[in-house]
Amino acid sequence: MDLFEYQAKALFAEYGVPVPQGKVASTPEEVRAIAEEFAAAGKPRVVVKAQVKTGGRGKAGGVKVADGPDDAVAKAEQILGMDIKGHTVHRVLVEEASDIAEEYYFSFLLDRANRTFLSICSAEGGMEIEEVAATNPEAVAKVAIDPLKGAPADVAADIVAQGKLPEAAAAGAVEVITKLWDVFVGKDATLVEVNPLILTKDGRVVALDGKVTLDDNAEFRQDLASLASAAEGDPLEVKAKEKGLNYVKLDGEVGIIGNGAGLVMSTLDVVAYAGEQYGGVKPANFLDIGGGASAEVMANGLEIILGDPAVKSVFVNVFGGITACDAVANGIVQALELLESRGEDVTKPLVVRLDGNNAELGRAILNERNHPAVRQVDTMDGAAAQAAELAAK
Ligand SMILES: Nc1ncnc2c1ncn2[C@@H]1O[C@H](COP(=O)(O)OP(=O)(O)O)[C@@H](O)[C@H]1O
Ligand SMILES: [Mg+2]
Repeated sequence: MDLFEYQAKALFAEYGVPVPQGKVASTPEEVRAIAEEFAAAGKPRVVVKAQVKTGGRGKAGGVKVADGPDDAVAKAEQILGMDIKGHTVHRVLVEEASDIAEEYYFSFLLDRANRTFLSICSAEGGMEIEEVAATNPEAVAKVAIDPLKGAPADVAADIVAQGKLPEAAAAGAVEVITKLWDVFVGKDATLVEVNPLILTKDGRVVALDGKVTLDDNAEFRQDLASLASAAEGDPLEVKAKEKGLNYVKLDGEVGIIGNGAGLVMSTLDVVAYAGEQYGGVKPANFLDIGGGASAEVMANGLEIILGDPAVKSVFVNVFGGITACDAVANGIVQALELLESRGEDVTKPLVVRLDGNNAELGRAILNERNHPAVRQVDTMDGAAAQAAELAAK
């Protein structure tokens, strides 16, 4: 699981790595309050930084320096809602501006090919390290880390020397690197990257950016859930995660439910294709309810999808395998009842396609229930076309 910069920096701070002071905001009002706090503390210059899980935010205009609260609000208004490489900005980090003398690069990562850990260090930081490695490979030091020894001061000093960090930064960098190794081990990370690691004009070494990937397999001993729910920007995705659903919000109008990730992915394609005839209607989400689609799972799935105001129609695409279609049909019927008992009238049209194991029986169950919102179509293409047409109305 990747963390946002603000979460990475919180982990850094927990382990004593120097980071700029900052707070996260999701509205211009919150940005103003934070910027006013900094101004009152004698630090009117702040940096407003888009919190999205992708690099190159600076280049994309997602990192802006502001002079005082009014300017911070203006910059935040530009950045909130911005799209950076397909990621919508829901939050910004407002932090004190640092006086940068130099920018370096540092990371620890899992080196799968060599079955060990690796550190990468360079005096040429700030820009993307792949670019530096391509144009100036001698400037990028790669130092293998013995997992039993880790990165105590002598190892860190060697890394700093090989990365050709200047004397002025050496001691500070060694301290930061030893602590970043503690973060890497303590949090079961597979990547801890600081780009840039800076030397300030007053001689301090500070982590100005942070990218951390945590190992999902360490969930049994790490509190990944709280990081994940705080991390997701979309409220529907947060809700889906709480219910244990495999849901990804997309930006179209046709809600999609299917069983099996492969089927759902091809359903997205078929709907997008059919939607071209109806003014570019597109899928509104990915939702895989998995193999044993119980009524409750179906109800939770429908609840999430119907709760999305962008959804105009829903396509339930099920191929009966181990879970037979009659069980799924019963699931749909019970799901509709469950939703109605929760006071949520189902009025958006549901196009259901059942095929595979016990399809006939499943269709009969839905026909008998005869719910006004539900219509059945036998083929996937036909159902996609109908769902797209209904969404376009
Ligand atoms: N707190 C800060 N103070 C001053 N400059 C900053 C600060 N945070 C970022 N910057 C500048 O913006 C650049 C890009 O920020 P960074 O956090 O590395 O985002 P990204 O890597 O996504 O572009 C940095 O290289 C640095 O020059
Ligand atoms: Mg960076």
